[in-house]
Amino acid sequence: MKVLVTDPIADAGLDRIRESGHEVETAYDVEGEALLEAVADANGLIVRSGTDVTEEVFAAAEDLVIVGRAGIGVDNIDIDAATDHGVIVANAPEGNVRAASEHSVAMAFATARSIPQAHQRLKNGEWAKGDYLGTEVNGKTLGVVGLGRVGQEVAKKLSSLGMDLVAYDPYISQERAEQIGAELAELEDCLERADLLTVHVPLTDETENLLSDDELAKLEDGYLINCARGGVVDEAALARAVDEGVMAGAAVDVFAEEPVTADNPLLDVEDVIVTPHLGASTEAAQENVAVSTADQVVAAFHGEP
Ligand code: MLT
Repeated sequence: MKVLVTDPIADAGLDRIRESGHEVETAYDVEGEALLEAVADANGLIVRSGTDVTEEVFAAAEDLVIVGRAGIGVDNIDIDAATDHGVIVANAPEGNVRAASEHSVAMAFATARSIPQAHQRLKNGEWAKGDYLGTEVNGKTLGVVGLGRVGQEVAKKLSSLGMDLVAYDPYISQERAEQIGAELAELEDCLERADLLTVHVPLTDETENLLSDDELAKLEDGYLINCARGGVVDEAALARAVDEGVMAGAAVDVFAEEPVTADNPLLDVEDVIVTPHLGASTEAAQENVAVSTADQVVAAFHGEP
């Protein structure tokens, strides 16, 4: 069987497929016609977030058995089209939870203490000690939108640093929330009470632009962290809220369009700090998701669950 890999994954995953006797072909940064050609004779396709697996891709790949997503989010894969074409879609929902949660915590501190801004000014030769009066997380309230695997990890980490937890998640039980030490609340209440709001939901029809002008206004003087998915937070609204001083700051790792282009409004706002979708970019996480995805592809070839 032939596995096409269109976004870079750790070698450990590629080795796993080869060791099982299957062929691996890598074709990074292919799109349009080139992608359709590359996938035409593939039995397996492995992607991260860089490849859009559309109806056209499924139509072109007549022998495709499985699409493996080396990561959590499957918003770049047309699941309905996969179903229509009888193709399995498998993600790796656990391997990068630690990495994503650690990045969210790092971004929380980075924005609350203006670390990137101060760093840049010092690198430019400026000793701007008097310009930065940060916010301590201890004793403050963390609002968590989405108490799934990553949301729970971030909640645990920041509550151990003295934060109170309030969470919005219509799919989790009160009992589970209590085990984590979080009080469940409606979104509005969560926004009003949070000093720092962290977002951990997938991008779906239900969550697209979940946080826009009205919602962000409720996060008055607060900080927002989005290391989940672009498109969940309205970028123009967030840029406005921080720029106009409604909110104190924001830290954003994920964008509605990636790679981000120079006209993205978030890039112009001093107190919005950004990273290029690095949440899962640790050696351990990349190895975990690559191996888990490869194992699922091989299992599918062998007719195993
Ligand atoms: C994920 O969905 O797992 C993350 O966004 C990580 C990634 O694909 O880079």
